[in-house]
Amino acid sequence: MFRLKLLAWYDLHRRDLPWRASRDPYRVWLSEIMLQQTRVAAVIRHYHEFLRRFPTIEKLAAAREASVLAAWSGLGYYRRARMMHAAAKHVTRELDGKYPRTSRELLKLPGVGRYTAAAIASIAFDEPVAAVDGNVERVLQRVSGTRLAAGPVWKAAADLMDTQRPGDFNQAMMELGATVCTPRAPACLTCPVIELCATRGELQGGKKAVPQRKKEIHYALVHRGGPGRREAFLVQRPQDASLMAGMWELPEAADKPGEKPLFTLRHSITVTDYTVKVWRLAALPRARGKWIAADRLDRIALTGLARKILRHTGILSHDAASSRSWLQDFSSCQKAKSVAG
Ligand code: ADE
Repeated sequence: MFRLKLLAWYDLHRRDLPWRASRDPYRVWLSEIMLQQTRVAAVIRHYHEFLRRFPTIEKLAAAREASVLAAWSGLGYYRRARMMHAAAKHVTRELDGKYPRTSRELLKLPGVGRYTAAAIASIAFDEPVAAVDGNVERVLQRVSGTRLAAGPVWKAAADLMDTQRPGDFNQAMMELGATVCTPRAPACLTCPVIELCATRGELQGGKKAVPQRKKEIHYALVHRGGPGRREAFLVQRPQDASLMAGMWELPEAADKPGEKPLFTLRHSITVTDYTVKVWRLAALPRARGKWIAADRLDRIALTGLARKILRHTGILSHDAASSRSWLQDFSSCQKAKSVAG
């Protein structure tokens, strides 16, 4: 009953997401990796562009890492892109270009964990294996009315699985969690399985949310050149940095107590909320860096925060792929005091 009701609802209400138009394993794999830590709306923006640059697994395998990271820029968690690149090389070089077809085999690829292996195997190859992400876990806990631990939650998903339509079943569970059975204020009155649900609302007694840490950071905006020939001075993170290794960002600046920064942004990374102050620096900072032309900014791997700052100034245009519009009117941005990220 559960699976029938769920699938009937999914057939009528599922979102028209670009990766649902194809069962090509490369496309399914790409969407699942992108969706691991990123919201659907942001993934949609990057998915087409990534496929335009790397339309096949062979093209991805043959690409330079810097180009792959540049195409990933804005999605964050760059380790995913590096792993995917490594997996593409592995499939083309070691597996003769034959993409693994079972969750067991998929699990051996770099960057593919239990959830991702199950999602790809069920969606692209019809393997009846349950895929449990955060959304599915919440649905199962509410339906069962129990705070299921990791083991039992996968078992509960496997017990419910529709073996005729495994990929649709998994995606329907994710869809229900993302659009109806939401973390807060679930829309129970529109839920297709409300009659089978033990909770019908938020399950009480959950873990307390981890409090966000707060930090302040300062960056220097240094640029030169006139319209059409702008360059920004950026620095590269060390190749052995634990986070965002090798990516480009603005040089750090010192706080200037009592003075006003050019502008302030908010930025959150996992459990930390940053207040980001951007200072206009006339002279070159001492950091080792490079002048990068505005029209090359979309071809290098920028950190998400650097992208946000450069967009805020207008150096990098908002329509993702291009960076044509440099600071048209720098003074207007000098007036901007504070913008919520
Ligand atoms: N989250 C992860 N994979 C998904 C998919 N295939 N559809 C919707 N949300 C998802």
